Amino acid sequence: MSEYQLHINGQPRTVDVAPETPLLWVLRDSLDLVGTKFGCGMAQCGACSVHVDGEAVRSCVLPVSLVGDKKVVTIEGLATEGKLTPLQQAWCVLDVAQCGYCQAGQIMCASILLREKPKPTDADIDLAMSGNLCRCATYHRIRAGIHRAAELAAEGGAR
Ligand code: FES
Ligand code: FES
Repeated sequence: MSEYQLHINGQPRTVDVAPETPLLWVLRDSLDLVGTKFGCGMAQCGACSVHVDGEAVRSCVLPVSLVGDKKVVTIEGLATEGKLTPLQQAWCVLDVAQCGYCQAGQIMCASILLREKPKPTDADIDLAMSGNLCRCATYHRIRAGIHRAAELAAEGGAR
């Protein structure tokens, strides 16, 4: 076991875990941030996606020892001061989720897409989201949710 000082959702957090422990399990088991989900454990499904220094990262394959002082944001840290992001608002309005299991990862990846392409086309969305699997096949609603979020963001919300 080793002690690691992490920066999670704007807060310093200290954990004592084995160096090879995936960030996913540090988040879920050590920090009780269970919004980030375990799907495949092999970087194949996107359910475990979080932001690390502003990029979408699959936390199931990132050892905690490699996180260092990078800023980690999970689905719990996406809203600011209790205000949902346009993506989260759009997800609620359009009832995007079915079982919901994949949806935190979907939103974390979609938020990177919207940062890079504030008005994405269907093709942009399909390409950017192609690595995020949904066993409930909510892909059409995910696409609609991203378009709605882009509209909401253009009206003044943060992404
Ligand atoms: S659980 Fe990490 S990509 Fe599937
Ligand atoms: S909503 Fe069920 S897996 Fe995506």
